Amino acid sequence: MTDLRDDARRAFRARFGHPPQGIWSAPGRVNLIGEHTDYNEGFVLPFAIDLRTLVAAAPRQDRVLRMASTFDDEDTVYLEVPLDALDELQELVAGGEASPLEWAAYPAGVAWALGRLGAGLDAATGVDLMFVSSVPVGAGLSSSAALECATALALDELWGLGFVRPELAQAGRMAENDFVGAPTGVMDQTASLLGAADAAVLLDCRSLETELVPLGLGDAGLEVLVIDTGVRHDHASGGYGERRASCEKAAVLLGVPALRDLGVTDLNRAEDKLSTETFHRLRHVVTENQRVLDAVDALRENDHAALGALLDASHASMRDDFEISTPELDLAVEVARENGALGARMTGGGFGGAAIALVPGDDVSRVTSAVDAAFAEHGYGAPEVFPVVPSPGAARDA
Ligand code: GLA
Repeated sequence: MTDLRDDARRAFRARFGHPPQGIWSAPGRVNLIGEHTDYNEGFVLPFAIDLRTLVAAAPRQDRVLRMASTFDDEDTVYLEVPLDALDELQELVAGGEASPLEWAAYPAGVAWALGRLGAGLDAATGVDLMFVSSVPVGAGLSSSAALECATALALDELWGLGFVRPELAQAGRMAENDFVGAPTGVMDQTASLLGAADAAVLLDCRSLETELVPLGLGDAGLEVLVIDTGVRHDHASGGYGERRASCEKAAVLLGVPALRDLGVTDLNRAEDKLSTETFHRLRHVVTENQRVLDAVDALRENDHAALGALLDASHASMRDDFEISTPELDLAVEVARENGALGARMTGGGFGGAAIALVPGDDVSRVTSAVDAAFAEHGYGAPEVFPVVPSPGAARDA
């Protein structure tokens, strides 16, 4: 963390020729359980992790955003966007074109979204922004939300906007949906902004109420291991949007505002009204919502074995009903379980990225080497296996 702060300061100075006014950071997240429930107005239970994106920032005299990062190509100096061009860029994306800004569409989108949320950018100054990050990109750990939330916190303070954190989370979601063109929900930004040490964030995606649920991992001698398969995904295209469309179709056919309005006991009557595929999509969402609530009960009773069983059931549902897993994720989950994990599941949007496993501390090295060996045996690229610690949300660091 201290290193990243120094890196951010150094990189800022080297790029922009003056020191930053402050440094803000926001974490990536792991979703413990509750996948593809957020845009169905259901429940999710993510936690913020100990990998963060930092932004060093300083206001400018003009109305230009300059964005640079240590993860850019060597020869990229910085991306420059006048605040007055943001609406036009957003219209491009709304018209179906890919954003020309690449990764910088996330922070630029946050600036745009803050304006839309009522801040009005007429009087806002430009800002220089330099990003450094330890959150791997495309691993399903919400590198994009970390980027958005660090930016939101920095701009909120530099522009004196005074938004509360749930509003900043909405700005991140709007950036992603309307400026980048990825039809995602609000889970990741909520975890990144509202996470706390040793706790998961229970979010009701309809009321947007949140509650911290203590995880008790340390006392139980448990670790959450991330198994990053190295298979990369992109939610602005393909499967993610199709799944979301299936859910919206099911809600229309069943005459409910969102799939949140259906419970497990409604599944029987729903089956006749839907195609087999749409029914399977629905069944995942409805049972997953229930699993989130059951997971919260299990945690309150300190029953980590029951939590593990729910993680397993969640994975099976995503593999078989929602069909968003991959052979690499299935293997990671299976091998982790065979080597001592209490439960395991893919986490995030799917189609690649990472799995998580709930593992007794004594079994961590066994799980790690077994997963490495199994991937090699199957001819898959080497996975990255590492523990994550439930950590505090976004903050000003300097
Ligand atoms: C991605 C999205 C989230 C959520 C998950 C699936 O992480 O950004 O909003 O929909 O996928 O649970």
